[in-house]
Amino acid sequence: MRVLVLNGPNLGRLGTREPDVYGSATHDDLVALCTSTGEQLGLDVEVRQTDHEGEMVGWLHEATDLGAAVVLNAGAWTHYSIAVRDAAAQLRGPLVELHISNVHRRESFRHHSVLSDIATGVLAGFGVDGYRLALEWLAKQP
Ligand code: DQA
Repeated sequence: MRVLVLNGPNLGRLGTREPDVYGSATHDDLVALCTSTGEQLGLDVEVRQTDHEGEMVGWLHEATDLGAAVVLNAGAWTHYSIAVRDAAAQLRGPLVELHISNVHRRESFRHHSVLSDIATGVLAGFGVDGYRLALEWLAKQP
């Protein structure tokens, strides 16, 4: 199965960004975790990160055209971007919405997601280990 792990704004700053909230793993560590987990599970995993909304929309179109599964941490776009939602709504494969932090324990503006009702499932609060959990679930899908 082809899996695109797509990370949105500020996630390239993992490791130095609010480590009390997001932990000490860097984005490179996250890439290594996803790549090695994908190899173990027999998944074809590619990880990307962007701070640009249009680039993310383009990657979601690409995932749609590939029929790929997507693990999407849309960062702050989660809470307001109808453009990202509309692109994600076109996906033909499973969509896992992922958050490193437990957004429901945080500020109220993080409690609403424009993605959750179109996602196959949502993971939040398991740190970067959530990416491994998402890939393990995807590997079990037919
Ligand atoms: C996040 C949570 C969002 O509220 C925030 O804007 C992020 C990261 C998370 O992974 O916990 O950038 O998606």
